[in-house]
Amino acid sequence: MNDMAQVEIRPARLRDAGPLAAFHEVAPPPPGGAEAADPIYMTDLRARVLAVSGGEIVGTCRYQGAAGHCAVVPAPRLLEWDEALAAQLLRAAAGHAFRRHGARLIQSLTEPEGASPLALAVERAGFDRLAVLSYMRRPIRPEDRLLEPPPSLAWHPYSLFRHRLFARTILSTYRESLDCPKLTGLRPINDTIATHKHTGTFRPRTWRLAIAEGKPTGVVLVSENQGRGDLVYLGVVPEARRRGIGRALMDRAIRDTAEVGLPQMGLAVDVSNIPAMRLYERAGFREIRRRLAHFVPGDRLEGL
Ligand SMILES: CC(C)(COP(=O)(O)OP(=O)(O)OC[C@H]1O[C@@H](n2cnc3c(N)ncnc32)[C@H](O)[C@@H]1OP(=O)(O)O)[C@@H](O)C(=O)NCCC(=O)NCCS
Repeated sequence: MNDMAQVEIRPARLRDAGPLAAFHEVAPPPPGGAEAADPIYMTDLRARVLAVSGGEIVGTCRYQGAAGHCAVVPAPRLLEWDEALAAQLLRAAAGHAFRRHGARLIQSLTEPEGASPLALAVERAGFDRLAVLSYMRRPIRPEDRLLEPPPSLAWHPYSLFRHRLFARTILSTYRESLDCPKLTGLRPINDTIATHKHTGTFRPRTWRLAIAEGKPTGVVLVSENQGRGDLVYLGVVPEARRRGIGRALMDRAIRDTAEVGLPQMGLAVDVSNIPAMRLYERAGFREIRRRLAHFVPGDRLEGL
């Protein structure tokens, strides 16, 4: 247990690079094991905070900034695990993300088993529990190119001219949504779209708006990420749900991924979103792992 009165938490500076490299050599992985260990790169000093005691680095944490004013805070590294100090570092890294990166939404992802030491520290740092996320995959087969979404739907790819129509339709699909509802209204829609655009490689042709009887009824956004088609968002406006539109959007996304020539599709979904879980399972997706997601709105950290 660290004597908190003796520990200073502060942003890393250029001259910390040497001591940080030495710290990196000896710091054990956080609880959760090597997989949860965030690598320490000397190039990300500006995004790092340090815990310093008696002139020695005893812990560090950083944020990874993303487009759309959001950031992720990975697990802190400490010489010796201490929940209170880990929480201080997580909160300081989140505050740093808010001030330096302008992050309005800061997230953390941990292993979902019970009350893991890392998740306890994240909650102690002031993050709220968002959702348990299921990461799902589906292989893409040659015959997926033959999927025929219903002819009653017209498909418009994304373009800057259609940006506002996409934005309005995405916002409509958030109504009565079970997809991480705590995030609804937290950020401007253009921030959310910017984050989606920068998740993997953005391909405007595989971002689709579905029109039925002249009206926008849903969107499906697929990007390329790590050699897979990544379903970054899919939504149907409430008036058109339970009529097969979700399934049609999914078929369109699978066919687009097959036509691009990618061998697999992936997605992440809030496990309490039963309609979406069912839709994905029926479309052949299978869970490969789960993560517990927490978040803190940037303005909650303003006073720090
Ligand atoms: C999830 C969503 C896209 C489903 O769209 P939809 O057009 O209603 O879905 P479909 O009518 O094509 O139904 C497809 C399958 O999904 C499942 N499903 C859809 N709505 C469901 C519900 N309310 N309860 C249980 N299962 C449901 C069913 O298994 C259905 O297959 P079935 O009709 O053969 O039983 C829609 O509810 C939505 O837009 N929700 C808000 C946004 C969202 O959650 N997006 C997912 C982001 S990960």
